[in-house]
Amino acid sequence: MLKAYISYRKNAVNAHGIHSPFVFEFYNEVVLKAKALDDEYIQHVRRTLLKDNREIEITDLGQGSKKGNSNSRKISELVKVQAVDRKYGRLLGRLVSYYKLDTCLELGTSLGIGTAHMAEYAKKVITIEGCPNIYSEAKKFWSPRFGNIEFVNAEFSSVLPQVLSSMDKLDLVYIDGNHGYEPTMDYFKQILSKAHNDTFIIFDDINWSEGMRRAWDEICSSKEIHVSMEFFRMGIVLKRHEQAKEHFVLKF
Ligand SMILES: C[S@@+](CC[C@H](N)C(=O)[O-])C[C@H]1O[C@@H](n2cnc3c(N)ncnc32)[C@H](O)[C@@H]1O
Repeated sequence: MLKAYISYRKNAVNAHGIHSPFVFEFYNEVVLKAKALDDEYIQHVRRTLLKDNREIEITDLGQGSKKGNSNSRKISELVKVQAVDRKYGRLLGRLVSYYKLDTCLELGTSLGIGTAHMAEYAKKVITIEGCPNIYSEAKKFWSPRFGNIEFVNAEFSSVLPQVLSSMDKLDLVYIDGNHGYEPTMDYFKQILSKAHNDTFIIFDDINWSEGMRRAWDEICSSKEIHVSMEFFRMGIVLKRHEQAKEHFVLKF
């Protein structure tokens, strides 16, 4: 992780180092303006969840947490360990709002913080969570505010083909669960066949493990992908076949 961070800091560029007009605009309009996004309601819920000491039983369908594998967890701990942080949450929100994206898909709801960031601006967000108790909590917290979220309780691979074929259009996918090489490559291949030329395909935790990094590097070198952009935590790829294939390491 430290080695990956040093390499990221050494290679990351800001707007001055970007020659692609699409990526230049993305950097100036999305990355640099993410911080100004009004997400007060989401932060209010996050603060409430951080004080919630109820324990729930967890069904772990992913690669496990690096911070312990006990089967029962406090809601407050889940938020600390799993939820997208404010900086990256706002990046998701700004991305959806700036490009006016209609339909988003999330793999890994957890307590729905990332889901909510997208749902503020999207027409519809479908989010999949394997653990029944986490799914119920997320649904309870966010359904009253967002009628545009469809919560699905299932293991990703058991439901992904049906979910993808039920969607008219896929504008953004946020893959944030089961961070291993094989599952990540499998989700990517399925999503790629549904993605249009401008679908944002986002991977969280690209430096979480050797397997995730290998998957990310392979995804970037796929000939179907012409634009790949990475921050330290997240990676984003698009087909954008009109553009020359290029990879960008961006300061954030
Ligand atoms: C890192 S958390 C998601 C955080 C959330 N996206 C956010 O922005 O706050 C990953 C979630 O994915 C779920 N998960 C992991 N592997 C899964 C699988 N194979 N099928 C279904 N859910 C899975 C876990 O139960 C966990 O709640």
